[in-house]
Formats: sequence, structure tokens, C-alpha cells
Amino acid sequence: MTTIGIIGSGNIGGALTRLFTQAGHQVAVANSRGPSSLEALAKETGARAATVEDAVKGARIVVVTIPLNRVPDLPKDLFAGAPADLIVIDTCNYYPRQRDGAIAPIEAGSTESGWVAQELGRPVIKVFNNIYAAHLQSGGKPRGEAGRIALPVAGDDVQAKAAVMALVDEIGFDPIDAGTIAESWRQQPGSPVYTRDLDADGVRKALAEAKPERTPDWRATPNSPGDFERPA
Ligand SMILES: NC(=O)c1ccc[n+]([C@@H]2O[C@H](COP(=O)([O-])OP(=O)(O)OC[C@H]3O[C@@H](n4cnc5c(N)ncnc54)[C@H](OP(=O)(O)O)[C@@H]3O)[C@@H](O)[C@H]2O)c1
Repeated sequence: MTTIGIIGSGNIGGALTRLFTQAGHQVAVANSRGPSSLEALAKETGARAATVEDAVKGARIVVVTIPLNRVPDLPKDLFAGAPADLIVIDTCNYYPRQRDGAIAPIEAGSTESGWVAQELGRPVIKVFNNIYAAHLQSGGKPRGEAGRIALPVAGDDVQAKAAVMALVDEIGFDPIDAGTIAESWRQQPGSPVYTRDLDADGVRKALAEAKPERTPDWRATPNSPGDFERPA
């Protein structure tokens, strides 16, 4: 049993709250509106409705799963008292044309998770960014079953990455080591592995075929952001 804090209770945060509690983990979940808005999810799953700060306290793993452009809004000292070996998972994607607007360091070539880690002041493990929330929620299969979806896991700390890969396996997906955060462009939006629900061999091949250049759909325009119906 692992204590897991989840910051963000939307599509991905909600799915992970369900999957981690079903797997027997002790989950505290937080959002921007506060614990009273999380009563239904807490009742459904047995997770604890928490503030952002409380979700971090005592956690072994914290998942940050909020719109990328909201990451700088998190409390600056959020991880100040947390142990050095706290594992932080980042699921965030950069949607410059639809939601986030231009984030200059990413436009200049930083990986998305490299930027998130810098904003948080903590290294991160990148995973769950390349699968639709609905497929994450219901697409898991037992290990060894044909067609099991594989998920790339990138990060610099070997032990932290191994712990996250074990968690990915436990909730029904084949974890694939995708290298370091500096290489995590291989699984960013627009890459061959993004939202494709590939199996283990497919993910390895897609990661190998990825190109570091950001495609135009995933770059800011002078009008960014528009919205999901009318991207800028
Ligand atoms: N949707 C997908 O299929 C998918 C797949 C892979 C990755 N992602 C990425 O994963 C991240 C989360 O996506 P999502 O679809 O789950 O987003 P979402 O449904 O829009 O939910 C976002 C959550 O973040 C919370 N939040 C926003 N600002 C916050 C703050 N300052 N402090 C605490 N909580 C805050 C919101 O709180 P409230 O509930 O109070 O508004 C909400 O619970 C995004 O970066 C997204 O690009 C999404």
C-alpha cells in the first residue's frame, strides 16, 4: 500500500483516483476548489478529499495532473517540507493553441516535463500523458494479456522510475522505460506514441521513431490560446 496524493481531480486525476484506490492504495485527492467539491469522488472511491498542501503531506508519490499553464499557480513552497525521495508524477501536456497559450521556455525547446520540474522545484517522472483519460480509466488488462496497452515512463531517477513503472503495471498497463526527461519529447503531443494505445513493441518502435521537432499543431501562434473548438 502506497500513500498517493493527486493534485487535479478532472479527467485524468479522477481516473487515477479510481484506479489507485481500486488497487488498494491510500489516496488523497485535491483540486482548485477545495475538499468540499470532492465529496462525491471521495465517497465513490474511498479517497480522502484534501487541500493541495494536504495531498502532499505524508505522500510517497504525488501526481500533478492539472492544465499545464496552471502549474505556476501551485504554492511555491508546496514541496519544501517533503522528503527528498518523494516521487512526483507529471501527466501534463502543452496545448498552446487550445488552452495554455505560449509558454516561452517550451517554445524555445525545453521539454514539457523539464519545464514542469523547474516550476515545481522537483524532478518529475512523466507518465499517463499520452493516453486518453477514458482509455486509462477502462483500458487496463492483466499482465500478459494480448493487446495490453503500454505506457512510456520517462525520468532521470532510476529508483523513482522503477517505482512508477511498478504502479503502471499494477493498474493494468505495460510500463516502458522511455529514457530521461531530456528525451521525453519522444512521448509529447504529436509524437508517434501520443494517444495511439500501442502495445509494448509498438511503444518501443514509436519512441524510437519520434522526432524532437515540435509540429505546427503543437506550437503557439500569435493568437494563442483559442479554445478546443477553435484552436488559435
Ligand atoms: N484529458 C485527457 O485525456 C488527458 C490525457 C493525458 C494527459 N492530460 C493532461 O493531464 C492534465 C490534466 O488533464 P485533465 O483532462 O484531467 O484536466 P481537467 O479535466 O481540466 O482537470 C483539471 C484539474 O486541475 C485542477 N486544477 C487547476 N488548477 C489548479 C490549481 N492551481 N491547483 C489545484 N488544482 C488545480 C482542476 O480543479 P477544479 O476541479 O477545482 O477545477 C481540475 O480538477 C493536463 O495537463 C492535460 O493536458 C489529459
